[in-house]
Amino acid sequence: MTVLEEFTHVFEPATRPGAPTLLLLHGTGADEHDLLPLGRALASGAALLSPRGRVDENGMNRWFRRLREGVFDVEDLIERTAELAGFVRAATAAYDLDPERIVVSGFSNGANTGAGLLLLHPGLVAGAALFAGGAPLQGREPGPVELSGTRVFLGNGVADPITTIDQARLLADQLGERGAEVEAHEHPGGHQLPPDVLGRARDWFDRAGF
Ligand code: MLT
Repeated sequence: MTVLEEFTHVFEPATRPGAPTLLLLHGTGADEHDLLPLGRALASGAALLSPRGRVDENGMNRWFRRLREGVFDVEDLIERTAELAGFVRAATAAYDLDPERIVVSGFSNGANTGAGLLLLHPGLVAGAALFAGGAPLQGREPGPVELSGTRVFLGNGVADPITTIDQARLLADQLGERGAEVEAHEHPGGHQLPPDVLGRARDWFDRAGF
């Protein structure tokens, strides 16, 4: 089985010539179809690459193991994120994508994984729009990677009981300290993606000019 086949996935080619590619990473319990509408709303005409997380937690798809809610198995996260990076490279070749114009977007567990891609595999993606995600390595300090030129939108709820706003702010700091251009938006809600945050992310995407 090839790396490409190891991840069940959906690929939708761009409908606008020269459009970037969105890598979509779903939240816990969802699948590769869940974020396709988000992808279309965020970046009209973009190619969509949407894999399914390979970890099974009581029948729910995830990207990496956790010990309990909010406590990650960081070793597993590191290993699984490397596998996912391999998938992205294989898909880039197989679907003839521009490796410089891949933007990751994820929700919750997918946002944490997208943050892991940024911090552990710098240069794999040009940017990220992450919703309800936080610092993926939790207690560990990420390495001194170079992220200048990487553009990131973060959308988080100040009342989120799962990804606390402190974890979201820590992620914004970790990315910014490594040179990423971070636009962090905090909303009053919880573990969700409110329509006005999606609207702001869409504006950010247009301005970023991927
Ligand atoms: C996680 O990655 O575990 C998220 O923060 C929470 C979830 O996916 O339910």
